[in-house]
Amino acid sequence: MNYLLIKNIHMTAAGLSIVFFVIRAYWSITSSALLQKRLVKTLPHVIDTVLLLAGVTLAAMIGPEQPWILAKIVALLFYIGVGTIAIKHGKTPASRAIAALIAIAIFIYIVGVAIHHNPMSWLA
Ligand code: HEM
Repeated sequence: MNYLLIKNIHMTAAGLSIVFFVIRAYWSITSSALLQKRLVKTLPHVIDTVLLLAGVTLAAMIGPEQPWILAKIVALLFYIGVGTIAIKHGKTPASRAIAALIAIAIFIYIVGVAIHHNPMSWLA
């Protein structure tokens, strides 16, 4: 498959991922029942799987042995981990809100890494 097409799928999935994350984090902080809907629970997993598969495919196509790709994978694991605190495991609305802000900051870091091809992200 064409590199640019996969890159566009990857970037679209990244955009959808953060939009859905912000919506779910808001519902989590406000303890909304909407968070329990089946579609709300499954759609983000579909999007994030597409995001990851497209990213791994791109990495394989350009050669994955680059520090910035490793930085993205590690940061993605933190994004997921902190994200589940924001949406699931955080005990109080305040702790879920703080986790949500950290997850968003990690996402912004990842986009900087992607654009600059450098683990220093926006500071590169
Ligand atoms: C939350 C997670 C991620 C986000 C938000 C994200 C975001 C992006 C963005 C915005 C671009 C386009 C950069 C540009 O050229 O302007 C990109 C490209 C890319 N991403 Fe990701 N990405 C994520 C995860 C990953 C992962 C886990 C991998 C590898 C396993 C990966 C590998 C790549 C590769 C190889 C490119 C192509 C770079 C290029 O052609 O210039 N991404 N990503």
